[in-house]
Amino acid sequence: MITFDNVSLTYPNGHQGLKNINLEIPKGEFVVVVGLSGAGKSTLIRSINQMVRPTEGRLLIEEEDSLAMNTKNLRLLRRDIGMIFQNYNLVKRSSVLRNVLSGRLGYTSTLKSILNLFSKEDLQYAMECLDRVGIQDKAYQRADTLSGGQQQRVSIARALSQKPKAILADEPVASLDPPTAHAVMQDLQQINKEDQITMVINLHAIDLSMEYADRIIGLRDGEMVFDGKASEVTEQTFEDIYGRAIKEDDLIGEAESE
Ligand SMILES: Nc1ncnc2c1ncn2[C@@H]1O[C@H](COP(=O)(O)OP(=O)(O)OP(=O)(O)O)[C@@H](O)[C@H]1O
Ligand SMILES: [Mg+2]
Repeated sequence: MITFDNVSLTYPNGHQGLKNINLEIPKGEFVVVVGLSGAGKSTLIRSINQMVRPTEGRLLIEEEDSLAMNTKNLRLLRRDIGMIFQNYNLVKRSSVLRNVLSGRLGYTSTLKSILNLFSKEDLQYAMECLDRVGIQDKAYQRADTLSGGQQQRVSIARALSQKPKAILADEPVASLDPPTAHAVMQDLQQINKEDQITMVINLHAIDLSMEYADRIIGLRDGEMVFDGKASEVTEQTFEDIYGRAIKEDDLIGEAESE
């Protein structure tokens, strides 16, 4: 579904964020990207919906070269790809429901969206998405009154409401305590399994990565230094990615209860 064909990205200041990435992600795969700070994890993820633009190579989304798309097709592409951030990126003063409905904007005419006119179907679907992450009862609460874990679930519901083919998540659980981090990862895993939505997720904690990933991509200095199943990760892999042995800080720990 997502193919990186010799993709490189050089930032305007000359820094090479990605170097010759070759990667094929089939539909429905749960991919976790790991690497040191500055390795290029965010750059790789953001390339997929062109929040940053690769400078070389071809990046195919469902066979279409996204780097050659016109504005209209790029907008349609972004509608198909949900995005989740570490800091949730919610409109804090708006209600949970309104935040989730904003995921429907790609399907709403400009006039209706200016007037905040959502159809009954959109409302109903937004409520269903909230239900899937277990927080339908928070629909009318202001987003910033929710806990971190709940806010991240709102952002998952917002991504879901786009009816995406893929969800990209940049450190989605880095601000959460271990049990909540596991709970949010389980929500993402369930959505991946039930809806066959492709997931590409950056994570810091190596144990969390190995627990949830079908496949792990290791980046170092913009290069892909590992691509394999979680079960194929060894201590040597870890050294190849991080340049050192595993430390306590690399682990998030067990989930007990939320
Ligand atoms: N807009 C930019 N202009 C120049 N260099 C950039 C820009 N954005 C990122 N970089 C550089 O590209 C490299 C990769 O950055 P990126 O944010 O992808 O790393 P990361 O693996 O996500 O790190 P972290 O774990 O800290 O989030 C870094 O060296 C960073 O300084
Ligand atoms: Mg990053």
